[in-house]
Amino acid sequence: MKIRAAVLREYGIPMKIEELELAEPREHEVQVKMLACGFCHSDLSVWQGYIPQDIPMVPGHEACAVVEKIGHGVTKLKPGDRVIGCWMVPCGHCFQCRRGRPNLCETSMKFFQEGNLLDGTSRLTDKDGKRVGLGSFIAGFATHSVMPDIGAIKVPEHIKLPPEQLCQLGCSVATGWGSVVNVAKAREGNSIGIWGCGGIGLNAIRFAALRHCNPIVAVDLEKSKRDIAMEFGATHFVESSKDDPIPVIKGLTGGAGLEFAIEATGDPGAQVQAWWALRSGGTMVNIGIPPIDSVTSIPLFYAPLHAKSIIGTLYGETHPTEDLPGLMEVMNTGILKTDKLVTRTIKLEDLDMVMQAILAREVIGRWVIKYD
Ligand SMILES: NC(=O)c1ccc[n+]([C@@H]2O[C@H](COP(=O)([O-])OP(=O)(O)OC[C@H]3O[C@@H](n4cnc5c(N)ncnc54)[C@H](O)[C@@H]3O)[C@@H](O)[C@H]2O)c1
Ligand SMILES: [Zn+2]
Ligand SMILES: [Zn+2]
Repeated sequence: MKIRAAVLREYGIPMKIEELELAEPREHEVQVKMLACGFCHSDLSVWQGYIPQDIPMVPGHEACAVVEKIGHGVTKLKPGDRVIGCWMVPCGHCFQCRRGRPNLCETSMKFFQEGNLLDGTSRLTDKDGKRVGLGSFIAGFATHSVMPDIGAIKVPEHIKLPPEQLCQLGCSVATGWGSVVNVAKAREGNSIGIWGCGGIGLNAIRFAALRHCNPIVAVDLEKSKRDIAMEFGATHFVESSKDDPIPVIKGLTGGAGLEFAIEATGDPGAQVQAWWALRSGGTMVNIGIPPIDSVTSIPLFYAPLHAKSIIGTLYGETHPTEDLPGLMEVMNTGILKTDKLVTRTIKLEDLDMVMQAILAREVIGRWVIKYD
């Protein structure tokens, strides 16, 4: 069928909306009509070539969609079901899947890079009949797509949240949750700092608040992010373009520093700051993805001397098929404030405008494409 999609053909050049051909879903795949897709900073990094993925490709990995057609062997989904797309789809067989880390699935990782589904092919071709990659098993910047059934998490009937909120489960909510709960394993009274109050950082703040961490220090270059950070549960906010967060954090922690520093900017400077903000025995959790060729000046002398750790995490150690249904129920209570997270709905044609706004650090919360 003919669909419309934003195609990334050259890094850093505005994506054009093209008419593409979408092939039928194959075994264990579903064809979906997109309802909403958030714009994550990782989409910007892919567009910039900072997170290299093969092109041409249709990006977009934070999507809520409705099933239109099912392929052979699909038993748990039917046309009309709403689903959330996972950008890492467990193959169930590789080293990482067998050891309980499906977020690092080796099969998925390769296809994620190439823009293929689990059989190693895409379902998209352009007007010249040439292959176009289907980004992150989702291609959320397309009006329609095909997803692996295992990566399409069903939204139960009783969940009435709008698609622009539900789509956040696919990346920002899951990653923010996992970084605090699965990786840091933060608990009552732990001191925690979060660098970057964007979609991911705000969810990390939210879960730190729900876990009764204290203090929860939100750090962002932009003062404009203060109100939303406090709304999500930060106890303090540091505008780091004006104030050095390290003395502020030391002042709040009796001179010691933080037990956990969550870095959700992807900026090497913020990584260094988060490191210096740690107390002895503290842990920095790296969610932010800097450009592939960037390096960071962290004095590892203090890693053994002060027993400091750095833990990188992809998807916050989420197990997509096992964790997302439960998280969706939590989201449905309203406690995650996803109604406040999504501050603007936009059109597929607005992608360039969103990217410019993110580059200028003007986006508060998440902006989400809402499809007709
Ligand atoms: N590891 C993962 O699985 C995973 C998943 C999703 C996103 N990410 C990455 O997480 C990062 C954040 O994503 P997002 O969608 O929340 O981004 P975003 O653009 O919505 O928010 C980033 C925030 O960081 C702030 N910021 C930028 N540089 C800063 C600095 N030096 N100090 C303090 N604040 C700074 C910006 O003002 C903005 O508020 C990106 O690098 C993204 O690629 C990683
Ligand atoms: Zn993302
Ligand atoms: Zn696997």
